[in-house]
Amino acid sequence: MITALLSTFAIALLLPLNHAQVPLETVNLQGCVPSGELDADIDYFPNKYTPSFSYVYSDIDIFGNKFSPDNTTDLLEITYHKTYKIVTNKLVKKSYLLYQCGTEPPQDEVDSGRHHLILSIPHTGGVAITETPQIPYIELLGKRTEIVAYIGNPSFVASPCMLHMMEENTIETIFNPEDPYNATNNALLTAAFLEENPEAIIFGGPFGDKDGDRVLSVAATQERTNVATFDWIALYAALYNLEGMSNEIISQSQASYDCSSSNAASLSFAKKRRLEESPVILWAQYFQGYNWSVAECPTWDSVYYCEYAKHCGTTIISRPEGVGSNVSNYWYLNDEELLELGKDADVWIYASSTWDTVYEQKKELMDQFKAVQNEAVYDTQGQGSNAWYEQRYAEYDVVGLDMCELVGLGNPNGVPHERRWFRNVYTEPVGQLEQCNIPYEISQPYVPRGAQCTPLTSGVGAVSTVSVLVAAVIFVLLG
Ligand SMILES: *[C@@H]1O[C@H](CO)[C@@H](O)[C@H](O)[C@H]1NC(C)=O
Ligand SMILES: *[C@@H]1O[C@H](CO)[C@@H](O)[C@H](O)[C@H]1NC(C)=O
Ligand SMILES: *[C@@H]1O[C@H](CO)[C@@H](O)[C@H](O)[C@H]1NC(C)=O
Ligand SMILES: *[C@@H]1O[C@H](CO)[C@@H](O)[C@H](O)[C@H]1NC(C)=O
Repeated sequence: MITALLSTFAIALLLPLNHAQVPLETVNLQGCVPSGELDADIDYFPNKYTPSFSYVYSDIDIFGNKFSPDNTTDLLEITYHKTYKIVTNKLVKKSYLLYQCGTEPPQDEVDSGRHHLILSIPHTGGVAITETPQIPYIELLGKRTEIVAYIGNPSFVASPCMLHMMEENTIETIFNPEDPYNATNNALLTAAFLEENPEAIIFGGPFGDKDGDRVLSVAATQERTNVATFDWIALYAALYNLEGMSNEIISQSQASYDCSSSNAASLSFAKKRRLEESPVILWAQYFQGYNWSVAECPTWDSVYYCEYAKHCGTTIISRPEGVGSNVSNYWYLNDEELLELGKDADVWIYASSTWDTVYEQKKELMDQFKAVQNEAVYDTQGQGSNAWYEQRYAEYDVVGLDMCELVGLGNPNGVPHERRWFRNVYTEPVGQLEQCNIPYEISQPYVPRGAQCTPLTSGVGAVSTVSVLVAAVIFVLLG
């Protein structure tokens, strides 16, 4: 009986929902609509971006914490029409009209004057980058060769392939090392670039020049959650009609991310039953001239590291209200305050590259911390000093696996996860990204390593989503 019901369920899943309307285009075009072949009835974008829904924190978890369900993407919207898409960045309140090459842009939308850019897609005029977190999305989609310029200080770039292209000048570097912060100067340099590359677009940062000529603003880093931050890959994909590919990458990353979270939840639940505490994390770093900056996590979605702690079912020490001094809206703790707050933490994560110099300076203080005594201190140089601010956006799921492993809540039985991002400052060297395999890799999509997560197969909460779904269906059918 149950088998019969199950197979009916399976068949229902496999059948297309609507047999009658088989669209003529089955994937988004990688070129123009050939002349004379335009058909007003065709949906030219069968592959569409739909915002990811975060399952992990959206329900009541096994500890009874409740989070409200929400679309995780707050700032990105893409609407699809038969021959065009409208991309909206809600942070800067700008929209961009992208129309399929070989079709005319819709006259009413053009006349409305409300779109900051009107672009034919797939975009062919090249792109310029202004902030390093923009790089990994383009690399994941295999569109590195579309990058024609990097506008900014080249010493922040971590991507080995991109550095190679900058060295070879296939990517122009637009930067005046003598006078890097002169806005007038930088505007002149950018204008000169656009004069030579009139079809190029410039990816602007969340707080960059949103009104600038040919600027398409990106706000990925301003999203509330890691899943939402990653969803911005869809904006880059939309320019190249690659939503099929971005949907695939998004769902793989999310599956790996959800897996490490549910593993950690089961393991920490099992620990609780044995009356063992899960590790407490101190997330703090020193700023010369300002003192100690400590995590602030009133809710799990306050900052990305609060989410990672929640993700792994562990506790992160959050600055209590009123502790420390406020210097232009950032809070800093003095030595005594840090000691009081963090001395008993099990793990200290120092999200910077300055541990050694600060330890030199403050050995006496730092030696009083349990995490220092136990050599449980990690910085973020597992892939070098800059990659954390760039490539980690391509692999937020791997960072999740790292964090859970670090606090002893990674699956002990599966394929062992090798930490990539957090580096033990006592026992591990500063890492580096894998070298660019020249020339082959330049035009290839970046594939993050170490994203494999083996779900726990026994224990509380270890059932997979699919079996929960099947169980629910059986329950409904039998009931
Ligand atoms: C999530 O997005 C979908 C479509 O994008 C929308 O219909 C729905 O109302 C949204 N839900 C929330 C909670 O915002
Ligand atoms: C900035 O650069 C422009 C053009 O090169 C120059 O005229 C100006 O004096 C510079 N401004 C400052 C504050 O240095
Ligand atoms: C920090 O202090 C300034 C005044 O010195 C105040 O205007 C501001 O609201 C404070 N910020 C926070 C986050 O408390
Ligand atoms: C930093 O902390 C030290 C004591 O630990 C204190 O003397 C100093 O005033 C603090 N500096 C700032 C900028 O708050």
